[in-house]
Amino acid sequence: MKKNLGVQPYLFPMPVLMIATYNDDTVDVMPMAWGGICAENMVSLNLEADHKTCANLKKRMAFTISVADIPHLKESDYFGIASANRFADKFARSGLTAVKSELVDAPIVTEYPVTLECTVAEIKEECYGGYHVLGEIKSVLADESTLDEKGKVDVSKLNAFVFDQFRNGYYAIGEKVGQAWNAGAPLVKGK
Ligand SMILES: Cc1cc2nc3c(=O)[nH]c(=O)nc-3n(C[C@H](O)[C@H](O)[C@H](O)COP(=O)(O)O)c2cc1C
Repeated sequence: MKKNLGVQPYLFPMPVLMIATYNDDTVDVMPMAWGGICAENMVSLNLEADHKTCANLKKRMAFTISVADIPHLKESDYFGIASANRFADKFARSGLTAVKSELVDAPIVTEYPVTLECTVAEIKEECYGGYHVLGEIKSVLADESTLDEKGKVDVSKLNAFVFDQFRNGYYAIGEKVGQAWNAGAPLVKGK
C-alpha cells in the first residue's frame, strides 16, 4: 500500500550547496537545497526573494557554489539559520575564512572542498513564488586532497552530506555502491 502525501516538495536526496556572495564589504554564505546543475556550464538557484543573497546576486552578478562537508556541518547549518539581513557579522561569527575569486566578483570559502565559480546569467524575480537565478560556471576548484590519481574528484574523500526534505535531517554520503552506465549493462544484453 502507498499513502498519498499530497503536494509537497518531497524528493531525496537534496543537495546542501553553499552559495557565497559579497555584501558591500563582507562575505555572505547560505545553504541551498533547491538547485543544482541544469546544463553543461550552468547552474540554477531557487531562492526566497528576501534573502540577503538575492540582493547580493543582483548587485554583484556573481557567486560561488560549494559542496558542504561534514567537518563544517555546524557552520553550514548556521548559515541557513542566520540571515545577513539581521547579522552584519554573519560570516565572521562562523570562524570560516574566504578569499576573493580571481575570476568572478564573489568569495571562495576556503574550508569547503569543491567550489564552482559562477557569474549570474539571468534572474527571474517572480517565478512560481520564488527568485530564480541561472548561473554560468566559469571554473571549478577542488582541494588536491580530494582528487584521485587521474585528477578526478573522488566523492568518498569529500565527506559530503545531503539534506532530507521530509524530516530536516542531514545524511552522510560517500560509500560507492555501483558504477553508472555500467551496473545496468547486463540487462541491456538480456542477462
Ligand atoms: C538545509 C537548508 C537548505 C536550504 N535551502 C534553501 C533553498 O533552496 N532556497 C532558499 O531560498 N533558502 C534555503 N534555505 C534557507 C536559507 O539558507 C536561509 O534563509 C539563509 O539564512 C539566508 O541567508 P541570507 O539572508 O544571508 O542570504 C535553506 C536552509 C537550510 C538550513
